[in-house]
Amino acid sequence: MVRKIAILTSGGDAPGMNAALRVCIRAGLFYGKEMYVIYDGFKGLVDGDIHQVNKDFTADIINRGGTILRSYRLPEFCNEEVQLKAVQQLKDYEIDAVIGIGGDGTYRGLAALKKHGVNVIGLPATIDNDVASTDYTIGFITALNTICDCIDKIKDTSSSHQRCSIIEVMGRHCGDLAMFSSIAEAAEMTITYDYRVPDEVLFRKLRKLKAQKKSHAIIVVSENLLDVHDLSKRINEETGFETRVEILGRLQRGGSPSAFDRILASRLGSYAIETLNKGEGGVAIGYIKGETVAIPLEEATTMKRDTHKTLINLIDMLQ
Ligand code: F6P
Repeated sequence: MVRKIAILTSGGDAPGMNAALRVCIRAGLFYGKEMYVIYDGFKGLVDGDIHQVNKDFTADIINRGGTILRSYRLPEFCNEEVQLKAVQQLKDYEIDAVIGIGGDGTYRGLAALKKHGVNVIGLPATIDNDVASTDYTIGFITALNTICDCIDKIKDTSSSHQRCSIIEVMGRHCGDLAMFSSIAEAAEMTITYDYRVPDEVLFRKLRKLKAQKKSHAIIVVSENLLDVHDLSKRINEETGFETRVEILGRLQRGGSPSAFDRILASRLGSYAIETLNKGEGGVAIGYIKGETVAIPLEEATTMKRDTHKTLINLIDMLQ
């Protein structure tokens, strides 16, 4: 039986991580579990930074951005020796299960613990939406709203100067933030991992827009894909459209989680605890087609992302 449960957050912080932490602690206490938190992700687990908490710990955190447990990137966790130190800490604290709140890197860490016999559960939280075992990760919609706010503001100045604005958004190697924000903001062009037109087509379109005296042109680009400054220079040279680059960066990760993310976190977090309470585990919790689901962790880490064919068609139709 699972009696003691520990929770950690790992990878890039995402709005809604605290909401997920809150519901896990409260649902765990509701089912009579002893609840623990681990600071600084897998580093804190290796170092034994593990603390028992009660309901008071969850006061006023549902609306807070970031993660009050802090996060830490620990590439060394792929070493078996480091993993075994973590396993020993869990034995010393007599922890029966670990809930990891984070993205694909977090899931890989949890899968390693599972291999060593630890009961684990993954909760998807990252702004990137790059976890294939859920339609939405906690934090994605909040980051998307933040991007839309920024693009609205950039459009004001872009239109005033009749400029082209290249907006680089995050996502690591996933194009969802770029694709979804392009549709929501009626961007003129989108460049992501799943969608990219040849440069000549892009230049031709911008020349046409300039000739039509369009007040602005918004191009949304996924990070890590190309040099946006070089693209800006080439657009200036090839089309005469005065161009500026805006790299939104980590401001996309901050801020209070949207109502959607708070509710998503609450649904997924409570399901994680219910799963452990039934004596099950070793799974990644997700939200697919409106239902909360549990998928074996190994399968979740190897699943292929949806390429959003419908959204690509929509972008094709609208741009
Ligand atoms: O995974 C979230 C994320 O914000 C990615 O979009 C981005 O590529 C990465 O983290 C940046 O990480 P860091 O803040 O550690 O540089």
